[in-house]
Amino acid sequence: MNNSQKLVISGGRKIEGELTVQGAKNSVLPLLSAAVLVHGESVLHNCPQLTDVDAACRILSGLGCRCVRSGGTITVNASSVSRSDIPDELMREMRSSIMFLGSILGRTGRCRLSFPGGCELGARPIDLHLSALKQMGAVITEEHGILDVSAPQGLKGARITLSFPSVGATENILLAAVTARGTTELHNAAREPEICDIADFLIKCGARISGAGSGVIYIEGVERLYPSEYSVMPDRIAAGTYLCCAAATGGELLLSGCRTENMTAFLSVLESMGCRGYAYGGGKLYFSRKRKLIAPPTIRTMPYPGFPTDIQAPIMSVTTLAEGTSVFVETIFDNRYRHVPELVRLGASIKAEGRVAVVEGVKRLTGAKLCAHELRGGAALITAALAAEGISEITGLNYIDRGYDGIEAVLRQAGADIKRVNV
Ligand code: UD1
Repeated sequence: MNNSQKLVISGGRKIEGELTVQGAKNSVLPLLSAAVLVHGESVLHNCPQLTDVDAACRILSGLGCRCVRSGGTITVNASSVSRSDIPDELMREMRSSIMFLGSILGRTGRCRLSFPGGCELGARPIDLHLSALKQMGAVITEEHGILDVSAPQGLKGARITLSFPSVGATENILLAAVTARGTTELHNAAREPEICDIADFLIKCGARISGAGSGVIYIEGVERLYPSEYSVMPDRIAAGTYLCCAAATGGELLLSGCRTENMTAFLSVLESMGCRGYAYGGGKLYFSRKRKLIAPPTIRTMPYPGFPTDIQAPIMSVTTLAEGTSVFVETIFDNRYRHVPELVRLGASIKAEGRVAVVEGVKRLTGAKLCAHELRGGAALITAALAAEGISEITGLNYIDRGYDGIEAVLRQAGADIKRVNV
């Protein structure tokens, strides 16, 4: 949405009730990209309503796909892909547009896009994406910030080893490799559950992939992909954010539609802080915080199955109210503490330097005017504002709307006093 709105939160109410977890942002974007490879229609269910999803649909339309949304279902018809470029404004709007590189190249043999510059989390290079594609036979030129990637002889399978298990690079390689000639062997691949989701969709469309979810993925190229129907996996990060809201306010939640086996890294941290989580079958999780919060052992963000960098900020909001000292080490991104000065405005005691942040728990937070500078940092401000005494106002909602489907409606349903107003 936009910058002309703000959230007004009257804090101090417990977050409690039943919530259904939205479809995963980090899965739906590469799934929409994968649809470019399909000769015909892809029907994707459980798509969250997010501005990043709208941007991905605009990219698809620009390529010549027919993209129609009806409720949570997006149908992409990629029978007549006619272009292979992504307009500069869409690249700027959403860094994850880079996710389309592998599929556009695989489908059309060429892809032109502008270089995704720096972003809210610091410089985010794409060297791993590009060097892998080169190994698969792509020729890459860069001029005036425009990347021109082509595969004059077609893409061919390769043995690729990533120096870091990048999620985006793993996805782009998967997308490029499924219709490449021969077999690709990807070592040190990212193991995030979203990688499995994309692989499962591609397999449903006729791709030959094994090992997704492990450190080595084998992809045997096929001629073409066929139409299919798929349901986007639940968003473990949105689920974790709502658990943090319940933890910070001393509430209790019954989440449905989640995969708790993907959430153990942060559930165990929340449990070490005095919360209780109990997983039922059928994707249900009961969660409560009845005891006082205590500081957890050092939180170090790591690639999956380690502690997710995307939950670092929301859980930091919970630690601001925990007894004792909490230490964070952010190992994935170099600029991911932009929420810290905002949390300090609420009365939190936090010192951040480089990759380390130290939080001294305080007895209470008090409402303040806050500004979100990035998606998960924005969610952290909401988490803290819900627990703070008095009124908080949060601007920068354009970031939050990129990843949370109707966050204020979801939280209101769980007892929050929160409203979105025009500035
Ligand atoms: C994805 C997620 C994001 C999450 C991140 C880490 C999506 C749409 N976004 O982002 O929510 O926070 O994984 O779990 O799925 N790097 C390089 N060179 C590259 C690629 C990455 O140096 O070519 C570095 C990045 O700068 C960063 C680190 O590797 O420091 C992790 O990046 P990566 O795993 O690629 O994250 P994204 O795919 O961008």
